[in-house]
Amino acid sequence: MIHTSSLALAGLAATAVAETIHGALVFTRHGDRTAKHFGNWVLTPLGAQQVFQVGTDYRSRYLSSSSPQRIRGISEFEYVPAQVWASAPDSPVLLTTANSFLQALYPPLGDIKPLLSAQDLANGSSVESPLAGYQYVTLHGVSEDSPETIWIKGDDECPAIKAASADFKASTEYQDRLASTRDFYQSLYPLVSDLYPSAEDLSYDSAYEIFDVINVMKIHNASSPIQDVTDDQLLQLRTLADSAEFGLNFNTSQAARSIHAQTFAASVLRHLNQTVTSADRNPKLTVLAGSYDTFLAFFGLAQLTDVSPEFYGLPDYASTMAFEIFTPGDDDSDLDVSALQVRYLFRNGTEGGSGLRTFPLFGTGKTTLPWSDFVDAMQRVGVSSAGEWCRLCQSEAVFCAAYTDDNGAATAADAGETVERGSWIAVLVVMAVAIAGNLVWAVMWLVRGRRVKEERKAAAVAAKVGSLGSESIKSYGKESV
Ligand SMILES: *[C@@H]1O[C@H](CO)[C@@H](O)[C@H](O)[C@H]1NC(C)=O
Ligand SMILES: *[C@@H]1O[C@H](CO)[C@@H](O)[C@H](O)[C@H]1NC(C)=O
Ligand SMILES: *[C@@H]1O[C@H](CO)[C@@H](O)[C@H](O)[C@H]1NC(C)=O
Ligand SMILES: *[C@@H]1O[C@H](CO)[C@@H](O)[C@H](O)[C@H]1NC(C)=O
Ligand SMILES: *[C@@H]1O[C@H](CO)[C@@H](O)[C@H](O)[C@H]1NC(C)=O
Repeated sequence: MIHTSSLALAGLAATAVAETIHGALVFTRHGDRTAKHFGNWVLTPLGAQQVFQVGTDYRSRYLSSSSPQRIRGISEFEYVPAQVWASAPDSPVLLTTANSFLQALYPPLGDIKPLLSAQDLANGSSVESPLAGYQYVTLHGVSEDSPETIWIKGDDECPAIKAASADFKASTEYQDRLASTRDFYQSLYPLVSDLYPSAEDLSYDSAYEIFDVINVMKIHNASSPIQDVTDDQLLQLRTLADSAEFGLNFNTSQAARSIHAQTFAASVLRHLNQTVTSADRNPKLTVLAGSYDTFLAFFGLAQLTDVSPEFYGLPDYASTMAFEIFTPGDDDSDLDVSALQVRYLFRNGTEGGSGLRTFPLFGTGKTTLPWSDFVDAMQRVGVSSAGEWCRLCQSEAVFCAAYTDDNGAATAADAGETVERGSWIAVLVVMAVAIAGNLVWAVMWLVRGRRVKEERKAAAVAAKVGSLGSESIKSYGKESV
């Protein structure tokens, strides 16, 4: 008896992870939402539950005092603003997703720590915030007109990505698939005839949109004829959407297809480096919500597709990737940067049993990288300034005016430095000088003309690289979430 229990204890000690996590960054996809086909898509209650579940699991990993992966010094119950940085593009689905994740991370105090939930006033009465001591975790919404937008959604307003995607559509690989799947798509027309005017609308050219609407209806609409789409057909639709979206978001020989992953890589590095270099190791946890195309582009860029062909596939709803920085050993001495390590983890949606798994980045074959190697690798692939992004994208986004003069040449504003959080005002000032006109007029004019100009620019970029004409580019609206 004594013998077995001491063996069991020894086993436990051997498997206990002796390491100290100093910080982490989690990037999450939204949960179940309404179909993109109908526009104005929103997160559904099912989607909120999925993200909440995932957030709860991260709470167990990073916040719980009983977790071996608890982030050192992070508050377990009460939200401390400096410790958590959360951000999402200014879109309902992604803001709601981030909110749902944060609600799970720091639930109402009345539910988990009643003693902390009420505050005493001078007159002796005690007050709890609404909804049982709800904790209002700050979430930074990022407008598409702010240079900050490129860190999470660097594919919008980027004509160079559109032009590169048009190259994919011109490839024989794409054209062959378009032809060989035409019969399959058209055979589904009777089931979706109330959604599409003609069978001609169904083709590989809209692979993601068609998969999406059919998948959403399967989940939500019991009376839709789409219920007759078989599991095999749905799998085929998904696989075709996988190949179309991966091709649009990454190609080894055309870096421009994954500019959004390059800015994302720089952003991950910037957030983690902030944790490493700040005296108080804040933020300890960064939470970002974004879309599947950033996942796919990053999978390609970080060579995860060489590790497993599964990375060619669309990540499921509420998928997350996490970057953890840690030192071996669980001592309490100050962080030794030379001993600092990084690991990358991915979790495919909420189910599947496998949970959060570690994968080696950049073809190293190693599931942990020394911090300095990670920094080198991320800097090698990263795009770390808005000015560089504007130039690579040939973007006409409002904020790019600060980086180019009237002839399209780089200005003094682009000394290669990163546009930091909150320096948006500086950008506006430089922009006023650059345009040398009435600021208000210029901004309004730019915002209005932006979309039209962007399309023209995409056409111009495409013409330059000698591919498809403007029509095919216009038909491709890149707004994937
Ligand atoms: C104490 O102050 C709060 C806020 O002004 C008020 O709502 C509450 O009724 C006061 N309590 C007592 C016992 O006076
Ligand atoms: C469900 O499908 C039916 C049949 O196509 C359609 O009439 C109805 O509007 C759909 N309901 C929703 C909520 O989309
Ligand atoms: C990548 O681009 C090259 C050159 O344009 C092309 O030959 C190849 O088929 C592309 N691969 C994919 C997966 O799109
Ligand atoms: C990390 O942050 C420090 C302090 O802000 C800065 O000097 C350094 O260049 C940064 N390193 C990277 C890799 O961004
Ligand atoms: C995630 O799951 C989907 C199927 O649900 C699959 O197609 C995809 O390859 C998976 N991705 C990874 C990285 O496991």
